Amino acid sequence: MEKSKISRRDFLKNAGAVAVGTAAGTGLLGLPGCATGPAAAAAPTAAAPIARGLQFEPETLGLTPGPSTAEINFTWYAKGGAGGASQVRLFDEGGTLLQTVQGSSGGASEGKFTHKASLGGLEPDTRYRYSVSNDGTNWSYEYMFKTPKTGRFSFACVGDPQLTQRLTNLQGAQDADSKFFSADRSTAQGWKDSMAMIAAAGVDFVAGVGDQVDKTSGGDEVEYRHFFAPAELRAIPFAPAVGNHDRHYPFLYHYNLPNEQKFEPIVNATNNNDVETGTAEAAGHYFYRYNNALFVVLNTSAYPDSAAAARPYIDRFDRTLSAAVNAHQGTYDWLFVQHHKSTASVAQHVADRDIQYYVEAGFERLMDKHRVDFVLAGHDHVYARSFGMNDGRPVNTGKDRISNPGGAIYLTATTASGLKYYNIFDAREYM
Ligand SMILES: [Fe+2]
Ligand SMILES: [Fe+2]
Repeated sequence: MEKSKISRRDFLKNAGAVAVGTAAGTGLLGLPGCATGPAAAAAPTAAAPIARGLQFEPETLGLTPGPSTAEINFTWYAKGGAGGASQVRLFDEGGTLLQTVQGSSGGASEGKFTHKASLGGLEPDTRYRYSVSNDGTNWSYEYMFKTPKTGRFSFACVGDPQLTQRLTNLQGAQDADSKFFSADRSTAQGWKDSMAMIAAAGVDFVAGVGDQVDKTSGGDEVEYRHFFAPAELRAIPFAPAVGNHDRHYPFLYHYNLPNEQKFEPIVNATNNNDVETGTAEAAGHYFYRYNNALFVVLNTSAYPDSAAAARPYIDRFDRTLSAAVNAHQGTYDWLFVQHHKSTASVAQHVADRDIQYYVEAGFERLMDKHRVDFVLAGHDHVYARSFGMNDGRPVNTGKDRISNPGGAIYLTATTASGLKYYNIFDAREYM
């Protein structure tokens, strides 16, 4: 494992994030929690966008991984663009137009429109410029992203930035227990600081584990503007998970997810779900392959009130994992799951009944069944890493370097903006 430019402690405490390095086909994996990075490889930078042809400015423009590293997805907001004439232009690093793709648009919050587009045919280890348009006539700044090399890559895992709106009544303020305050002690700036550190670490993409924003019902576009404010998100793809705070329609508007699996909303009094909540709980099940690793994102945002009520959600997870594994059988060395509500953590959420019901209904058995290597989660606003686990028990207690652990390692990421830190509640035997 390569040595990090920044210390593990600083990276985790300040960024609330972890970066994982994979080694193609060697069977050896850098442990999560160790900030690794392709030190020699230049990061996809958030270099100043190029103003050529600027005629409109998209809002909350972000990238998500495509189904593979040869593809990439775009999403932005704009006041106009009802006609579905969204387009993205792709240029080489020197500015030569390579392709123009057609996207789609739809109504979104604040009377605005969400625009989505996907493009493929990307070469590895290549810098590209891109520009977006609502109508094919008026174009945005040109931004830049870089595709990963074949083989080894690195990514950051971030939990619970949970951006809030303002710096009054403690809303939007960082936790008083923060060790690294942002300049104005706001979560908005803390998140910008985290993304700057993540970009400096040279990661290829960011895997989110939920609670990107805070306001649940209806959402809050100011929070989304805070979330997409870091310029790095125009250059580094971000793969979100749905957290309990993301259960609203704006989640559907702000991300263009690869291989998203469609499920019917569960709307009933047992789960205290209205249509918006049930719809958001049914979204965000998707997968993407990144070189020799397969990432499957599951939505554990719901609050089942019994093991029986949790089973339909477990069924969604099984179907999503099965679709991903069947589509990529024999092509990946590592299987990662991203989801929100950590089942193996140490702070106060670990004893929550809804999480216990997920476990009783078979969440961790499902990880064993599909031979998942790493389960990345958040929700508990604390950093924790389990031993290699199988059937709910530790099977490998290696602490520093593990080869073939014989079971899934469960990683919990703390808050990536410094919003709030939960106290250590119970140091379980599997940590
Ligand atoms: Fe949270
Ligand atoms: Fe949460």
